Order: sequence, then C-alpha cells, then structure tokens
Amino acid sequence: MECLQVGRLIYLLSLTIAGFEAQHRSTPLYDEPYRPQYHFSPRQNWTNDPNGLVYFEGEYHLFFQFNPLRDEWGHMSWGHAVSRDLLHWRELPVALPEENGIMIFTGSTVIDQRNTSGFCTGKKPCLIAVYTGYAPPKGSKSGLQTQNLAFSNDRGRTWTKYEHNPVLNLNLADFRDPKVFWSDQAACWVMLVSLPNDHKVAFYRSPDLKHWNHVSDFGPAGATGGQWECPELFELPVDGSRAKTRWVLKVGLNPGGLQGGSGEQYFIGSFDGARFVNDNPSSLTLWTDYGKDCYCALTLNGLPRNQPQVMIGWMNNWQCAAAVPTHPWRGQMTIPRKLSLRTTIEGVRLVEQPIKSLQALRSQSIVLTNQSIEELNRNLSEGDVAKGRAFELDSTISLGRAEEVGWKLLTADGSYLVVGYNQRNEKVFVDRTHAGVTAFSKDFPARTAATLPLHGDSLRLEILVDRCSVEIFAQGGRVTITDLVFPLADARGIRMYLKGGQPGPVSVNVSNFRSVYSIP
Ligand code: FRU
Repeated sequence: MECLQVGRLIYLLSLTIAGFEAQHRSTPLYDEPYRPQYHFSPRQNWTNDPNGLVYFEGEYHLFFQFNPLRDEWGHMSWGHAVSRDLLHWRELPVALPEENGIMIFTGSTVIDQRNTSGFCTGKKPCLIAVYTGYAPPKGSKSGLQTQNLAFSNDRGRTWTKYEHNPVLNLNLADFRDPKVFWSDQAACWVMLVSLPNDHKVAFYRSPDLKHWNHVSDFGPAGATGGQWECPELFELPVDGSRAKTRWVLKVGLNPGGLQGGSGEQYFIGSFDGARFVNDNPSSLTLWTDYGKDCYCALTLNGLPRNQPQVMIGWMNNWQCAAAVPTHPWRGQMTIPRKLSLRTTIEGVRLVEQPIKSLQALRSQSIVLTNQSIEELNRNLSEGDVAKGRAFELDSTISLGRAEEVGWKLLTADGSYLVVGYNQRNEKVFVDRTHAGVTAFSKDFPARTAATLPLHGDSLRLEILVDRCSVEIFAQGGRVTITDLVFPLADARGIRMYLKGGQPGPVSVNVSNFRSVYSIP
C-alpha cells in the first residue's frame, strides 16, 4: 500500500477512535450505565480476583488482579484500594506492577507484628505481600509459577519486592495463589497454595516468611472437574458460639463449577496448624454460592478478634468475563459478606450475609407488611422507590399453596430478571435468560438454582441489585446466588408474580442505595 493510502487509513481510524472515546467520555466516570454504585470496581481496565485483603491501622486494603493497560486480562499486577468501611473505596496507584516479564498473580497480605521477616524498618509492624510470580512460557521454555514476597513500611503506599525472590519454587508451571496467615497454635506462618492440576492444596510453614517447609497436602476431594485455584482457610464459630469452632477450607474450581465455568467449593473440618482434616466424606461437595458469578473469594487478615470474618469475591466467571459489556472497566467485586457456620438438618453449613454497614447507604425505603400480591404490586408501582437500579429488596413470603412465587426485577419492554422459589422442587433460583443483554457469550443466558427445603418456614429472600448484578441471600444467608445481569437502559420496575395456587401474606421492604461515589 502506498504511504498516502496508509496515512489516510490511519487518519480515518483515528477519527473513529476519537468519536468512540468522545461518546464514552460524555458519561461521567462512575455513572456509566452498568457501573456498580455500591460494589467495588476499578476506575478503568480489567480486574479479576481480590488479593491480599487485610485490615491494618484502621484501613481495609483491597488489592486486586489488575491489568493497568487494558480492559482485558494481561500484564497482571496488584491494583490497590483502601476503605474505612469496606464500601467506600479509594483507588490508589498500582501496588505491585508486572516487572521483568514476571506477572503478579493472586496472593495474600499479612501483618508482620514481630518483624519475623526482618523487613520492618521502623518500630511498627509492616505489611508483607505473598504472591505468585508468573513467568509465561517463552519459546520451548514452559511457564513458571513461584511464591514471592514484597513489603511495605508505609501502610501499603509503596512496596519493595524481596531481592531474593522467589521464596518457594517447585519448578512447576501451575503452583499458585498462596494464602498466608499467622497460626497461634503452630507459632509460625502457614501457607496454603494450590497444585491446580493435582486438585490439591499444599500446606507449608515458616518462621520468617522466607523459608518454607512442606507439612501436608489436602485433596483431591469434592469437585475436581477443573483446576483448583485460590485456596482459603479460616476458623468460624458454630451457631455463634466461640467455644465451638470449625475450620473452613475453600477452593476455587475452573472449569467444573456447579453452574458451569468457575465456581467455589468448601470443606468443613479441623486444622491443627499443619493438617486440615475434612469432617465429611470426601465425596461430599459443598458450594459457597449457587450462581455463576462469585469466584476466588478471600477473607480478611488482621481483623480484630471480636469482629466477624468477612469474605469478598470476584463477581464474574471465566466463561464470560472477557466479553461482559462494561466500559471503561471490566470486573467488579461482590458485596463484602459476613461469614458464620450454622447447624442445619444436613449438617454444619456456611452462612453468608451482606455486612451490616451496608444499611447506612439506604436512602428512600418502602415497607409493605402482610399484603396480598395484588395490593403489593399496586403499592410498588406507585411512587419512585421501587424504580431504582441500585437497591435492596428484603421479602418474607409465606408460601401457602403457591406452586411458584417470586420477583420480576429490572423490568422493561418484555425484559426482566426473575428471582423465585418453586415449592414443588424446593428450589430457589435466579433466571437471567430474559434480562436485557445476554447474547455476548453463549454461556451467559442462565437459570441458576439451589435446593432449599423450607421445612414449613416462610421464605426469606434478601436481594441486592446494583445496576449489573444481583446477589440473593436466602433464609438468612443459608444459600447465596450471585449473578451478573445487563438490563435494558430503562429497566427499573419490581413486580411479584405467582404461578399456580395461592401464597399466604407477603411482607417486603425495598430500599434504594446511595452511591458510594461522588459523581460530578
Ligand atoms: C483465578 C486465577 C488465579 C491466578 C489469577 C491470574 O481467577 O486464575 O489462579 O492467580 O487468576 O490472574
């Protein structure tokens, strides 16, 4: 092609790009059509897993898998945000950038209270990040994943990578996602790290974070239909009693998740500082979430002892993550969830609830008590409250003889999201097959369901909607379902629906949420 033609082509291309940019720039940042209003999403570009969650000197730190250059996976680095309430996040510069061709994969952050590492320079404890370094394959050389350290002596604002990295190297292409914490029981650091293709979690111990000894392996067990990633281990009280605790080992699985693509399972058992022992037969699979979009969730290190444990996940699924129609960011986190264990008829199970401080974001509310479906729908259609796109709906439904009952949300022009309960098959479900934009991935249209026998109780559904996501907490968090949804631009209504039979009375509380961003 002649220079002149090439020049013209470049000129035309730059006009097109400029037009596209201008069109997007006209929407204020944080008010883009699908921008979450009370969930964390990066200002721009790609994110996947949360990393290094830690509470330190009054601040919560959220690091996250981040591509600083584009809205697709690549150049993985640790992005960084801080918050005082786990809801209002201030995004800071990248904490750990990709360097010398080594990407920074998932990991955790610990507080070195007693300077066991020798990295803390002042009188105060310092923060230490333990992450997987990933050198991609080059020519005939296969990729390499190793465990590495970086430290910060200024409350996470600047970081130095340890000059003798890596601290753990098995010369494996798949060996990743260290979760590290201090074990009082073992009086040393404990690391869980995943051997993805063996469906194993390996346990290591160290006195100083630099030298690690292998102490045990867990797995294979439960679901093994894909790579095991992002292991997590935490201790929780059972039925609120601190005298009776169990340990939860959580493992991400991709693919092979319950609803296809990525999903997360957990095991309940004991941990003696070296070995995790499953309370249940290894054939039993328990899922942390029954939707498609909650992956690689992490809990917080450094929480004061009297504060309940909290978990945050990546609200996405590797099946569709690269194609979700958001701009200029791609990827977001779930609502932080308070964790507990409850004894149920089936055994001890994980319970997840939105953190209490979320209630402070409520703006207008509508409360309707003991109403028929007709009354309820009439009341909901009046006024503005039930027409938000970032809201909470908390309903208690006495099922009576109803066959199926539930909510149609974000309704517009024959498009709607369904959250319902079917009494015949005892399933609570989210159906996004008729909700707005779904065609960007063949795996996106989906109905995700969980078996949830009510044993004669009323059905309690707490539903969080935030422009492009829905999170369901059923029966006080016994079952959660997390799904992304991309509604039509004017989709806003809430209606209750019924299929067959008659339910008893229904009570509902709908609250709109204020945005955590100050939008100009
Ligand atoms: C899980 C995961 C991790 C890895 C990271 C890379 O989503 O594959 O195992 O560390 O993402 O971005």
